[in-house]
Amino acid sequence: MTAPRYFALIPAAGVGARMGGTVPKQYTRLAGKPMLARVLDTFVGISAIAHTFTVVSSGDEHIDEAMTEVTGDRSLLSILRVGGDTRRQSVLNGLHAMRGRMDVSDDDWILVHDAARPGIDAESIEKLMHAIHDDVTGGLLALPVVDTLKRADADGRIDRTIPREQLWAAQTPQMFRYGLLRHALEQAEHVTDEAGAIEALGLKPLLVEGSARNFKVTLPHDVALAELYLKEFA
Ligand code: CTP
Ligand code: MG
Repeated sequence: MTAPRYFALIPAAGVGARMGGTVPKQYTRLAGKPMLARVLDTFVGISAIAHTFTVVSSGDEHIDEAMTEVTGDRSLLSILRVGGDTRRQSVLNGLHAMRGRMDVSDDDWILVHDAARPGIDAESIEKLMHAIHDDVTGGLLALPVVDTLKRADADGRIDRTIPREQLWAAQTPQMFRYGLLRHALEQAEHVTDEAGAIEALGLKPLLVEGSARNFKVTLPHDVALAELYLKEFA
């Protein structure tokens, strides 16, 4: 048996409704470069990742220009114009389409990473790969919750406090084997991340501690924070 390979899959087919703006948020410029180009720079720089696929919507008018701003070896990147109506559907379509482009086996690892998390760094990705590489299930980067959590009632009053011990906030990359991930996403319709689909099969993904700078850029004020982190680590 040959050793499993690593592939990255970047869902970038959202519209960025909460961000507003004139272009979908994955194309927002952060410290001079489109968010998606920054993410692709990071993945292209990891030699253990054989190829990185980006899923965009079929009518995307910004991807070609964004690609010109990627530094590093662009032959390691492919664009798949197969975005769906939900993140889950975009990822699932991407998994199908990548097999048409490349010889991907069921045992190969897929790292799914949001285009909207430009703060991801090579060290965190390598930490995840190292922690998971011989795991049977797979896992994800996540952060232990530090705030005290309250569940609200319908009137906006506290119903109860949720103990934060053992609570984590899920991030990406989420890393699972191709065959298991595709099967899990085909089964689970109402999941918001890959781990949720794997959990629905009764399996237990491994939580690997990430960093705060890998937060998801969602609202307009997140842009300034993302730029702050990028400059700090430039
Ligand atoms: N995504 C996708 N296909 C969709 C929806 C989302 O590929 N149909 C991608 C986004 O481009 C993003 C990631 O999934 O990289 C995380 O989604 P989110 O942060 O929710 O982005 P949007 O859906 O674009 O934003 P919003 O929910 O505010 O519209
Ligand atoms: Mg969304």
